[in-house]
Amino acid sequence: LAAVFLLAGCSQLNFWQMDGHQTSMVTAGPVAESQLQVFYATVWVTAIIFVVVAAVLTYATIKFKARTTDDENAPPPEQSHGNPLIELSLIGVSVLALVFIAFPTLRAIWFTYDVPEEERENAYVIDAIGYQWWFKFDYPMEQIDGVGALSVANEMVIPAGRPVRVNLRTVDVIHSFWVPKLAGKVDMTPNRGNHMWLQADEPGYFWGQCAEYCGDSHAVMRFRVIALNEADFAEWVAHKKLPARTVTPEIADPARAERPQITFASFKRNEYGFSDKWDPRSQVSPLDNWRQQQFPHEGEDAALIAQGRKLFQTKTCIACHTVRGHEGMGITGPELTHIASQTTIAAGLLENTPEQMARWIMHPEVVKPGNKMYTTGYVPSEITIDQDEALALVAYLQSLK
Ligand code: CUA
Repeated sequence: LAAVFLLAGCSQLNFWQMDGHQTSMVTAGPVAESQLQVFYATVWVTAIIFVVVAAVLTYATIKFKARTTDDENAPPPEQSHGNPLIELSLIGVSVLALVFIAFPTLRAIWFTYDVPEEERENAYVIDAIGYQWWFKFDYPMEQIDGVGALSVANEMVIPAGRPVRVNLRTVDVIHSFWVPKLAGKVDMTPNRGNHMWLQADEPGYFWGQCAEYCGDSHAVMRFRVIALNEADFAEWVAHKKLPARTVTPEIADPARAERPQITFASFKRNEYGFSDKWDPRSQVSPLDNWRQQQFPHEGEDAALIAQGRKLFQTKTCIACHTVRGHEGMGITGPELTHIASQTTIAAGLLENTPEQMARWIMHPEVVKPGNKMYTTGYVPSEITIDQDEALALVAYLQSLK
């Protein structure tokens, strides 16, 4: 009975209030759909076998549960050893069951391996690279003069209704790329290029997750796939190609200055700040982030932003992070050129709010155990960030729309 409830409730399961969106039982594209069909074929075959075996077992248990006579001296029932017909039939049925499962399995393996031949020319290409513990996405079809391929972190924006070939690599250990509603899982293996493809039939948000144990923060190595319609996708690409912009104290109006409203007392050090309450079904466009805000950023504290930009250098953030057009040129951490226009931070873990960003900057070791920002950035050089510095850094990063 427990199993029935468990199976029946799959799409409603609400682990960590995560809206049940990390489910491969509800598909949003052809690759996940073909994988789901293999699952159903296997479930049906095993269910039929289970019912037949259980029925025979129940019948035998009831029918032969006791002797049919009270005569102590009665001869034992007729004994038999082996039945070639039944044994051969069982072997035959087993082989048939395996062949039945093999057909959809092989078809799905071939289908999911690469974009179908006839659609290959139309396919969009993205290089996904695994890091402990985040994902980098390079867009080889979107070149920026003097820079190379457009690169973003942790949010893979794709055109909806178009096949996307994803080339998979890793810079450290084995990770596995999985977007339950779209496709997966395929390993990102050191010194070896893998690939897969996926397609989101409609615009929308989809959870992704590393699916291969890769160290301390494997469980929180998440990302988000955002599928946009053609026009929105083109706008997203055009915007992402721009270098970072922000205020300078000279051009902003100090009279309208406003500090970010952050309540540090609300930080709960020992709790994850999962971005779970955010509902992917609300279809908030990531484009709204910068559409709402015109350059220059009037109404923000320009001096604070300038101070944050300075701290971004002196606290050595620039050693690992790139902010194209600004001082940051590091490549070992996620690119932050347009960090304020992302929906999440910390590899899909936290909602991109000033509060969560301040918390992430001040206590990275609490939010993501073992993360490199803390272990290599904070500890050896004994860098600490106090609340005032966090406010300035947040103001700067949140100005990078
Ligand atoms: Cu990367 Cu688990």
